[in-house]
Amino acid sequence: MGNKTVRLLKKSEIKRGVKRLAQQLNDDYRERSPIIICILKGAFVFLADLIRELEIPLKVDFLFVSSYSDSTRTSGVVKILKDISIDIEGEDVLLVEDVVDTGLTLSYITNFLIRKNPKSLKICSLLEKKIRREKKIKIDYCGFHIPNRYVIGYGLDFCEKFRNLQDINTMELLQ
Ligand code: IMP
Ligand code: MG
Repeated sequence: MGNKTVRLLKKSEIKRGVKRLAQQLNDDYRERSPIIICILKGAFVFLADLIRELEIPLKVDFLFVSSYSDSTRTSGVVKILKDISIDIEGEDVLLVEDVVDTGLTLSYITNFLIRKNPKSLKICSLLEKKIRREKKIKIDYCGFHIPNRYVIGYGLDFCEKFRNLQDINTMELLQ
């Protein structure tokens, strides 16, 4: 089995997309001080670029979940591997995710976080694949709509590899 990769979004396009999202967030969160929760591991590169474009006072925390077990297919089971460490009760919370596919992961995470009584809970995802959606999820801020392909790079992995690539590439699995 070999893998063929094709570039989907190059570094400069991603950068422009991140800036555009940051402008919206700078406007919408003006006068507020949100807690930004990065969903690990995939969103860490996006988070690092996004927060450096934000001009609002903010806090950062991390929620470590696993939804895919070393394959390109969702298991449907979401496990919280590490909970957040900041108290979000009464706070404005912004979830930062890499990609929404079936929506199972974010649906589980939002239910989990809502029980902690935040004042508001919004979602910012770099990428969104619409076609395989199983759970209705409102993505408040979306960087790019992408086709139904497995993607790697810019934090996104295949079997834990390729997170370091600067572009986002589609990966065709060849049998
Ligand atoms: P969902 O639960 O099907 O919406 O999948 C969301 C999670 O699966 C994301 O947090 C990603 O970590 C992972 N995922 C979904 N699609 C891809 C992909 O194309 N490449 C890498 N990871 C993906
Ligand atoms: Mg993820």
